[in-house]
Amino acid sequence: MRSSGALKRGVKRGGPLKDFTTFGIGGPAEFFSRPRDSAALSAAIRYCRKNSIPVRVIGSGSNILCADRGIKGAVIKLDAPPFVGLSSSGNRVRAGAGVTLAALIRYCVRRGLSGAEFLAGIPGTVGGGLVMNCGVAKPRRLAIGDIIEEVRVMDHQGKARVLPASRIKFGYRDSGLSRWIITGAGFKLRRSSPRKVRAKLREFMLRRRGQDYRFPSAGCVFKNPAPAPAGRLIEECGLKGRSVGGARISEKHANFIVNTGNASCSEVLKLIRLAQRRVRQRFGISLEPEIRIWK
Ligand code: EPU
Repeated sequence: MRSSGALKRGVKRGGPLKDFTTFGIGGPAEFFSRPRDSAALSAAIRYCRKNSIPVRVIGSGSNILCADRGIKGAVIKLDAPPFVGLSSSGNRVRAGAGVTLAALIRYCVRRGLSGAEFLAGIPGTVGGGLVMNCGVAKPRRLAIGDIIEEVRVMDHQGKARVLPASRIKFGYRDSGLSRWIITGAGFKLRRSSPRKVRAKLREFMLRRRGQDYRFPSAGCVFKNPAPAPAGRLIEECGLKGRSVGGARISEKHANFIVNTGNASCSEVLKLIRLAQRRVRQRFGISLEPEIRIWK
């Protein structure tokens, strides 16, 4: 395949994707691009389309399990200044796709803007969070789509568009947005005070105490099926602490698979299949991965 000025070969510039995923797992991408602005992003997208190169976007890599041998196609990371900016006007905040949810929250706290506190502790970016419609289950189901006014995207012709929230079909861990390249979003929040926002943040952080952040992971591996949380079902199958090589079903939270050191993608996949098999045998329930598997 021909190399071009629009996209540089990934191995040299980006290194293995394990350096870009919270799991710490994954080989190189065939192409890896960190466009410096929208024009460069548009050029990269058009180049890929012309050459039939599949494009994927990586945010903070917190919901991705990537193959050990790497992946074909291009991976785009939006971490240049035009994609990590934050600005506000009244109770509205504009954020670039590459802004981390942690940075968005810090920005809202300082301005006393309330509504995004439930995102506390989710290790993603605005773009990745929107694709996944990330959120929490308690005290009530809340997801990032609930506080969105609009999403800025680029289509596969490299053309910028603005999608109003009403046109986006946000569902549980789903948004349909992965067919676009998200470049940023507008959030609609409420005026409050930094003190009150901070207090709410603490509440949401406390709810995460049962989760396992001692080792690299991709957070919850499976979506919660309607009858019961995946973590409880896997625990009831006696799988807490089960290991394959460096991968382990967390003893702390059974919907987390952790990398205890040098875990490979195939080791994690073995645990995923084991949990699916046991839960199906015992409860007749199919567990659907929430994490995206890149292979
Ligand atoms: N549970 C067990 N055993 C376990 C884990 C959980 O019995 O090993 C039980 C808990 O005791 C609790 C219930 O299952 O009664 C739910 O557990 P938890 O409160 O930890 O929440 P969750 O349903 O496992 C969901 C989201 C999380 C989000 C939390 C907090 C999904 C798949 N997961 O987890 O999101 O942080 O709620 O609201 O919807 C993620 O998406 O990566 C993620 C971690």
